[in-house]
Amino acid sequence: MATRDVAVVVGSLRKESFSRKMARAAADAAPETLKLEIVEIGQLPHYNQDEDTNPPAPWTQFRDRIRRADAVLFVTPEYNRSVPGVLKNAIDVASRPYGKSAWDKKPAAIISVSPGALSAFGANHHLRQSLVFLNMPAMQQPEAYIGGADKLFDAEGKLINDSTRGFLGKVMQAFAAWIDKLAP
Ligand code: FNR
Repeated sequence: MATRDVAVVVGSLRKESFSRKMARAAADAAPETLKLEIVEIGQLPHYNQDEDTNPPAPWTQFRDRIRRADAVLFVTPEYNRSVPGVLKNAIDVASRPYGKSAWDKKPAAIISVSPGALSAFGANHHLRQSLVFLNMPAMQQPEAYIGGADKLFDAEGKLINDSTRGFLGKVMQAFAAWIDKLAP
């Protein structure tokens, strides 16, 4: 199996973000062939179509980083039953200029994370809607909705739940196979 560069986009800027901790736990649980790297999005200026002719450097850097990646893993909380604005902004930034989307054809997977019982289902599926338009083949199974996230980590941010660790391992194995199927 080839080694794959997986860009991890986390939909929260919060220092103690459960989503970020989950992204790190996913990296730990991933097979050797997947190299996961969190790609920051908090520095991206709001997308504004007027800037397409003279894009700010953070937009260009982010687009280039996504373009280099073999695949993208989104790990996101839910805000008001949808994706946080900061994540939508990152998606919009790398989708432009028109016809030059950095996301095009990148295999994707989604892990939604919440302290609540509904496990950010709404954000997970709103994100899937965007991925259809972005032409990103999103892994269907296993679906990854993780609830009760406030009880899964110790004070250092390490995952302390073995069942979640096992589940993350299965998700990442399936993602590796999904990427291989799409880009043998
Ligand atoms: C939330 N939260 C939340 N949770 C949820 O399960 N469904 C929701 O619709 C919302 N809506 C929402 C809106 C806003 C503006 C905030 C700030 C929060 C709670 C959210 O899940 C919680 O704050 C998480 O801890 C956020 O994820 P991170 O930052 O821990 O990754």
